[in-house]
Parts: sequence; C-alpha cells; structure tokens
Amino acid sequence: KKVLFVSSESVPFIKTGGLADVVGSLPKYFDKNKYDVRVMLPKYMCMKDEWKDKLSYRLHFYMDLNWRQQYVGLLELQYEGITFYFIDNEYYFNGSQPYGDIAYDIEKFAFFSKAALSALPLLDFRPDIIHCHDWQTGLVPIYLDNFRYNNEFFRGIKTVITIHNLKFQGIWDKKTVMDITGLPAYYFSPDKLEAYDDANYLKGGIVYADRVTTVSSSYAEEIKTPFYGEKLEGLMQARSNCLSGIVNGIDYGDFNPATDTNIARTYSVENFRKEKVKNKMALQEELGLERDPHRMMIGIVSRLTDQKGFDLIDCVMDELCQDAVQIVVLGTGDERYENMFRHFAWKYPDKVSAQIYYSEPMSHKIYASCDAFLMPSLFEPCGLSQLMSLRYGTVPIVRETGGLKDTVEAYNEYEKTGTGFSFTNYNAHEMLATVRYAEQIYYDKKRDWNKIVERGMEKDFSWKNSAKLYEELYENM
Ligand code: ADP
Ligand code: GLC
Repeated sequence: KKVLFVSSESVPFIKTGGLADVVGSLPKYFDKNKYDVRVMLPKYMCMKDEWKDKLSYRLHFYMDLNWRQQYVGLLELQYEGITFYFIDNEYYFNGSQPYGDIAYDIEKFAFFSKAALSALPLLDFRPDIIHCHDWQTGLVPIYLDNFRYNNEFFRGIKTVITIHNLKFQGIWDKKTVMDITGLPAYYFSPDKLEAYDDANYLKGGIVYADRVTTVSSSYAEEIKTPFYGEKLEGLMQARSNCLSGIVNGIDYGDFNPATDTNIARTYSVENFRKEKVKNKMALQEELGLERDPHRMMIGIVSRLTDQKGFDLIDCVMDELCQDAVQIVVLGTGDERYENMFRHFAWKYPDKVSAQIYYSEPMSHKIYASCDAFLMPSLFEPCGLSQLMSLRYGTVPIVRETGGLKDTVEAYNEYEKTGTGFSFTNYNAHEMLATVRYAEQIYYDKKRDWNKIVERGMEKDFSWKNSAKLYEELYENM
C-alpha cells in the first residue's frame, strides 16, 4: 500500500512540538515490504540551510488559488529510507517561524493542502491513503472530495486525519475562506466546513476524512465531552464509529540512554543506579546548582502554555521550594510563564534553574539527569516528554489526563507496581501533595524508588506496537 503523510512539520527539518516528532519517526516503522510511506511538508524558508541545501528539485507547476496563479515547486529528499517531498513557494513559506498570524496561516495552509494534492498526478505517485495531521491539513480531504468530480486520478483515495491537538482548529471568516480556497459554497454549511458561523479547517477534515484518530485512547474519549471537546464534542460523538486512539511512540534510536551522545554518562536499566546520577552532577555543575548527588532533581521540558498546567506550578512553587528539591526547567512560550520561571530562578538560585530557550541537547541532558519529571497538564492528547522520561529512568509525575493517563501507571506502594506518580483533579495542592509523596519515596524508600525507575525503563514505547495499529487501521479502510 502507498501512504502519503501530509503535515506542517516533521523532524529533523522543522519542529514546534510533538507533531514533528511523530511525523518524522512513525513512517520509518511501517513494514517496508507492505508499505511505501512518504511525507509531504512545506519548504519553509526558516528551515536550516543544512537541510535546504540537500533538497533536490523535482518539478514545478502553477496552480490557481482563487484569483491568483501560484508557483508550486516540488523538491525531494531521501532521508533514513523515507521519501520526503517539500512544497516550495516563497510567498507563503517565508517568515522566521512555520506559523505566524492566523489570517496568513489560513491562506498558507489552504495553499499547502491544495498544492500537495495537485502535485500527486505530476509526481506519478497515487497513494491509497492520505494521512493528514491537525488543522493545517484539514482541507486536504475536502479538496480531495472536490477534485474527484472531474479527475479520475483522485477517485478511491482514502483519508485519515489524526488530531494531535483539538485546541487548534484553523478558524476564520467563512466568506474570506471561500474566496481564498475557491471551494464551492456547497462545502460551507454547518454539516461540513462551517462551525458556529465560521469556517473551520479541522472540522472540515474530520467530517470528510474516512477515519479520525487521536494520539491516545483516553483523548479520543475525552473529546466527546464539553470539557475537552473544544466545542466540537457533538461532532466527535457523531463520528465516534470512525474515531479511535492510537498512542504515540518515540524514536528509540534517537532516545536511548545507552547510546546518547548528548549526555555526560550513558547508562541502561542494568547500571542506572550508579551511572545516572553522574549526569545529574554534570548538569548541576553546568547550570550552577548546588552540587549534591542525593538531592532530588525535578525536570520540566515543555512549550510554556496553559495546556501544560503551569498555573498550578505558579500557585505552589514557593511551597515546593521549601522542600529538598531542585527544579530544572527548559522551555519557551507564553511570556507569563517564561517570566514566572525566571522569577523563581532569581528567588531560589540554588534550587531553580530556568533555561528559557529551545535546545535538543539540553532536553536530552534533562531527561537523563533528573530523578523525576513534572507534567501536570490541563489536557494532553498524548505527550511525548513523559515517554522520553520513562525511557531515561526519570519518574514522571503527571495529571491523569489523555495520553498521560494511558502511559504512566501510578505507583502503588502495597502492590509494588507502577511507573510514576499521578493525581486526578486540576488542583495545585493535589499536585503538590503528589510531588511530596514522590519525595517521600525518593528519600525514605530508595529501593522502591529504583524499582519504579526500572519498571519505567522496561516499558516499551517504541513505535513498534503503534505502527502495527496504524497498519491495521489502513487495512480496514
Ligand atoms: P507538545 O507537542 O504538546 O508540545 P509533546 O510532549 O508531545 O508536547 O512534545 C514535546 C516535544 O518537544 C518533546 O520532544 C520535547 O522534548 C520537546 N521540547 C519542548 N520544549 C522544548 C525545548 N525548549 N527544547 C527542546 N525540546 C523541547
Ligand atoms: C500535540 C499534543 C501532544 C502530542 C503531540 C504529538 O502537540 O499537544 O500531547 O504528544 O501533539 O502527537
């Protein structure tokens, strides 16, 4: 079977969040004898030259987008056995970041979606399945429906849309979107692209895709309720026959404490008891924290947004800093949270370190060095950071929501089971109590703590299992 992923980001080329990790790693894990999986991305100007220089020109054509004639270039790169295509257009894909002003992004991703489809007949690549990701590619199933009327090539192609985050839907004024996309008025009704009088790309994709998936089973259930449904819970209920969750994996090649070149000391489940702590000491040194191998270090690596539960942390940080802990934060995002962590790092210089930037190597050091990882999300479609933590023997402390609930099993001190700590309600003191419970196990029951670490490291969150589930999904379409 031939499958085309269409996505707005993918590692190693361009990344703003976990979506890029998924799109860049999952295709490698399909059975190569049965699946030819290729990936279509925008060629952003802000992509590193290192990558731009490697792309080779494949073809170009011109495409109508409403009244404009647009250049569509198509470039190609073979990378780690996967074919990546890049849509080139300097007007749309300039800018210092993949996303910007929504008014502009709305047009940018209409262009991308239409161009991605229009390129296929010229490429002579006819996928059996087009797999779309998030709102940026929500128009793909709609354009596909539209193209089918007068082009044989597109008939019979099936679509999947994966929701990585329902919060972002690509909503804009209906009339403007009608003009931009050139799609007939027919598509702009409340049972199709329209939601609450506006045009909604993600909704359109969900209505028109043959299958809808989320990145964890719990999130697939949660989004049928008003709290998580982002005003589309009715649609999610209506589509529940075609809606399922497949939990994300991580790239076990890139994330492997036994071979990681970013960290001071490599280690495995056999020797983490002696070796892991050396990473902690190296990081304490590097970040200017008090050097103490016995001090419990809690890590955070995240986009700094409301989704991730930072208002809970804000609320109890002073209390938490009375404890024998060190807190290391790596992240960028909302100014409010960037400044909040800067403030606490200033207030508690030997306890809190705030690294307000983006750095892959630093993220690996944190996963490898910390004892625990804090992720108290308000909602979490899947979450990859907790999987990386588990892999590096760093015990996740999470709120029981979405993928966090599905991947972290709460420690049970009587049955001696579990891989992390968790709490239920979105409540700062419930979180604090859970962190303190973890502290207690860490300091008073080190053997039990190490067992939690061991169980976490032995879990398998590689793509192996989930890639199989995607294969099954494709087979059943
Ligand atoms: P989301 O996609 O909602 O941001 P995920 O947990 O799915 O959350 O994925 C986040 C990814 O981004 C992880 O790979 C994490 O390590 C990475 N990440 C987030 N912030 C940073 C940062 N400041 N520096 C390096 N990596 C980061
Ligand atoms: C989104 C979600 C995150 C998920 C990621 C990859 O960014 O916020 O929970 O892990 O997509 O699917």
